[in-house]
Amino acid sequence: MLTVHTRAALAAALDPWRRAGERIALVPTMGNLHAGHLALMRRARAEADRVVATIFVNPLQFDRAEDLAAYPRTLEADAAALSGAGVDLLFAPPEQEVYPRGRDGVTRVEVPGLGEELEGAHRPGHFIGVATVVCKLFAMTRPDVAVFGEKDFQQLLIIRTMNADLDLGVRVLAEPTVREPDGLAMSSRNGYLGPEDRARAPALHAALSAFGEALTRGERDFPALEQAARSQIEAAGLRPEYVSLRRRQDLALPGPGDRELVILAAAWCGPARLIDNLPVDLPPSG
Ligand code: PAF
Repeated sequence: MLTVHTRAALAAALDPWRRAGERIALVPTMGNLHAGHLALMRRARAEADRVVATIFVNPLQFDRAEDLAAYPRTLEADAAALSGAGVDLLFAPPEQEVYPRGRDGVTRVEVPGLGEELEGAHRPGHFIGVATVVCKLFAMTRPDVAVFGEKDFQQLLIIRTMNADLDLGVRVLAEPTVREPDGLAMSSRNGYLGPEDRARAPALHAALSAFGEALTRGERDFPALEQAARSQIEAAGLRPEYVSLRRRQDLALPGPGDRELVILAAAWCGPARLIDNLPVDLPPSG
C-alpha cells in the first residue's frame, strides 16, 4: 500500500489507474480504525479495482462539545490495518493540503433541512463540515464508488443528497453498523469510555432494540415509544439527547403508510457522546 500526504501525490497515484480504465473506490475516514471501518474497506475491495482510503481529522466538522485536539490519532496502526485489508492507496493529508486558504474562509457545502435536525440541531455546523470535506475528497479522488457506514445514518443521507444535488456522479454505498458482542455500535469515540461507562453504554442499543420490537409487535403510539426509550436510556445512567422514529428514505416524520423506518438516537455516556440507529420494517397492516 502506498501512503501519500499531498494532493499532487494523490493525483499522480490515481492517474495511471484511471487511464487504465480501473474502477476506483473511496473510503473516507477520520482514522483510529476499528472493525467497522475494515468492513467498509472490504466492501470497497469487492466493488472496485482500486481502493483508496483517506484519513483526515476534519476540523470543520467539530463543534465546541467535541475536542478536536483530543480526537485519537493512530496513523501508524491505521496504515498497517489498511494495508492488511487490501487497500491500495492511503491519502492522509495535513490540514493545509485540504484547506490551503485556511479553514475559516473556505467555500462550504450545505444540505439545508436534512442537515439541520437531529444531529444537526445538536451539533450546529457539523454537517456543513462533513459535506464540505466529503465533496472535496470526491473532487480530489473522483471515485466511481464511495462507501460509508450506516452507523452515521443521517450523515449517509446527507452525502447521498449532496452527491445527487451537485451531480457528483459517485455511487454511494452503505454498509451495516458493526457492533461489539454486547450490542454497542463500534465507534472511535468508544475509546473515551472508562470501564463503568463502557458497561453502561450498550443500554443505548438495548433501548433501540426494545423500541423496534414494540413496533414489530404492532405498537403504534410513536411518541410514547420514543419516551419509553428515553426513560430506559436514562435509567441506565446515560443522558439522552434525542430518540426519534423517522422515515428511512428522508428522515421525515413517518406518516400512516410508511413502513421503512429508522429509529435514531444520541446520548451522552460519561464523556462520550454516542449515536446509534436501528432500521425497522413495519409489517404490512392487515
Ligand atoms: O464518518 C466519518 O468518519 C467522517 O464524518 C467523514 C465521512 C470521514 C468525513 O470527515
